[in-house]
Amino acid sequence: MPRIYFTFFLLFCTVIIVFYLNKVYVYEKILSQTSLWNTYSGGETRTIFQDPNIFLRQNVRTHIGDISFLEFREELYKKYGYDLTIPTYPFVTVQSKYVMNCTWEFSDWLEQQKKRSSRRPRAYIPDGEQRDFLMNKYSGVSYKYTDDRKKLNITYKSWDNIADIVTWHARDVLRLVDNMSGISMHYAMKHYYLAGKRGLILASDHPIVEVQAIQNGASRILSVGQVSRETNDISSLSLTEFANQHGRYSQSFDFVATYGTIESVGLGRYGDVLDAFGDLQMMAMLGCSLKKGGLFFLGIPIGRDAVIFNQKRIYGHARLPMLIAGFEWIGTFGEDFQASTEITGPEIDRLHKFDHMKRTLVLRKL
Ligand SMILES: *[C@@H]1O[C@H](CO)[C@@H](O)[C@H](O)[C@H]1NC(C)=O
Ligand SMILES: *[C@@H]1O[C@H](CO)[C@@H](O)[C@H](O)[C@H]1NC(C)=O
Ligand SMILES: *[C@@H]1O[C@H](CO)[C@@H](O)[C@H](O)[C@H]1NC(C)=O
Repeated sequence: MPRIYFTFFLLFCTVIIVFYLNKVYVYEKILSQTSLWNTYSGGETRTIFQDPNIFLRQNVRTHIGDISFLEFREELYKKYGYDLTIPTYPFVTVQSKYVMNCTWEFSDWLEQQKKRSSRRPRAYIPDGEQRDFLMNKYSGVSYKYTDDRKKLNITYKSWDNIADIVTWHARDVLRLVDNMSGISMHYAMKHYYLAGKRGLILASDHPIVEVQAIQNGASRILSVGQVSRETNDISSLSLTEFANQHGRYSQSFDFVATYGTIESVGLGRYGDVLDAFGDLQMMAMLGCSLKKGGLFFLGIPIGRDAVIFNQKRIYGHARLPMLIAGFEWIGTFGEDFQASTEITGPEIDRLHKFDHMKRTLVLRKL
């Protein structure tokens, strides 16, 4: 009898030792790897990334080579007033060191508008501002120029036909721009059911997002940023009027939505004032008008961080976390699936330099 116990005991010890060695070995192996982020696509590895020893050593690809999160933390986030708080995958979570002051955001924006001039938009980033536009060098840059000032004075016919357009099929609405990528906004709104909700929309040329919101049940929309018309469900304001009346709209909307617009704010293409942080400030202004817990539907290009001057920005590991600081990221929609999908490290890594994927992120205001 005792012999059997002894055998069991030996067996037990062996199992423990093997298990321990294995763990140490695996752990060491993982610790020494700096490219897990780009090769694993989630699951188990997420818990590994909770360990700062592993996580901060991970490298992600940028236009100037592979950069670790440790370097991002020290050379980028800290310098621009953010703390890296949670190693979320695949984009980290950062938090602004400053308490949001909505009054300041709007009055600063109005103050900056005084610099507006009627000269042609710039074709190059001014020398003194390279560093901020390129986020202390982590962003790539390429050039593609258009002068779209006249677009601001066009009232697209689609604004007059909204009553008709809302009766169209969701895919037909996107024929207005001849580009299906915006269907991700429709999928996102459908998933989060907007029935009876009031929304604020940052307008683009055609009232597509406005129509998508109405089709998905929104009861009332305020559209800001374009010269447009009133309809039964939609009213509109210029950005200046909106900023002047911000007190009236403070924390008053159930949701905010914008597709394909935020990435060009501050690049001067529409005659707007050049501002390296224009997109971040616009995000803050829209966020200030959103109720706590309200949803922000954000359609942006995602890839390796870049500025395509004066067209748009591409959001990657460096800037995306700063753009969505203060929100919880709860859903991601692409053009291929009606359901929420996830963006993975390898997916971002596979993209070529200035390539990007358009996604609608769903964020919840904290
Ligand atoms: C917010 O900014 C405004 C305008 O700059 C300022 O008057 C006010 O004191 C600030 N509020 C807080 C809480 O810092
Ligand atoms: C747009 O219209 C405004 C006022 O009607 C005018 O002052 C401005 O020059 C116009 N801009 C362009 C680019 O045509
Ligand atoms: C559709 O929009 C995406 C993102 O803005 C762009 O990359 C793509 O080239 C567009 N496609 C067409 C056919 O215009």
